Amino acid sequence: MTDKVIEAINSGTLTADNLTHETLREKYKRQPYEYGPEALSRGRGIFDDTDQLDQYLYSYGKMGNEQWEKQFEFSMIDGDTTIIDYGCGQGLSFLNLVCRWSHDDDKTWQDYLKSVILIEPSQIALNRAQAIAQLKFPDATIRTIHKKLEELDNNDLLFDTNKVMIHIFSQVLDIPLADEFDLLGFFETITSTIGTHYIHVVSHEVDGMNNQTNVLKLYKHIASKHVHTELSLDDLGLKTDLKEPEKVRRTATNMALNTFNIPRNDKNYTAMFACIKTI
Ligand SMILES: C[S@@+](CC[C@H](N)C(=O)[O-])C[C@H]1O[C@@H](n2cnc3c(N)ncnc32)[C@H](O)[C@@H]1O
Repeated sequence: MTDKVIEAINSGTLTADNLTHETLREKYKRQPYEYGPEALSRGRGIFDDTDQLDQYLYSYGKMGNEQWEKQFEFSMIDGDTTIIDYGCGQGLSFLNLVCRWSHDDDKTWQDYLKSVILIEPSQIALNRAQAIAQLKFPDATIRTIHKKLEELDNNDLLFDTNKVMIHIFSQVLDIPLADEFDLLGFFETITSTIGTHYIHVVSHEVDGMNNQTNVLKLYKHIASKHVHTELSLDDLGLKTDLKEPEKVRRTATNMALNTFNIPRNDKNYTAMFACIKTI
């Protein structure tokens, strides 16, 4: 089955200007399956057919977009930026980010976005997300990693230093990950590059499943380990031990946790945001 979105990009029907999180859903949602949610493992499957991508837009695209509606108030730091989208799916979360977030100055994403890293275990979803990211940002480097979160190694998570890194976890921390996966160790690894890290997590509660645990665990970890006063040991009259090996230091400069209900489907959504400066 050919990918209708990639075809439309190649034929020029979809352009950087007319492609948004909303138009992707409106124009390419289809219902090829009689029982959509079952064909998609209730939206949590790893898809191997483009029909499933279109059905996902039909069954879950609206809800996916709604999760990005409650914005946090913050000012983006300007600078060369990398977006890393973990479990990026077909690119809906990437589109939500670049279509909804903007810079305060008169510059645009085109000025700041230098690279995009798309991580996703479904090859067909990854192909669509790559085509979308390349269409929107023809001058940026688009890197794809065909893996699950639990399979990423340190080489996959090497980022350029002294840049702005935006890490998106959209509807991925709420799906069951391997038992041995160390989420907090993973977080420490992805924020260890010197620079500014934005962490943005969105998810929704699934009835009867306690599936917000990872989001809350991550928030609690950042709040307890990386919110510091700005006093150094020297300020306190204590000598810094020069023999101690130099370590990176992370400081959370902004944090927000937001839970909200959408009356349309009476679903509860959780969103988390943190800005971490690593020096
Ligand atoms: C609900 S979709 C969300 C897609 C996208 N982030 C968005 O918000 O539109 C969940 C995605 O996670 C991917 N996925 C499933 N298990 C995963 C894992 N262990 N690691 C990373 N991604 C995974 C699926 O293939 C799917 O694309």
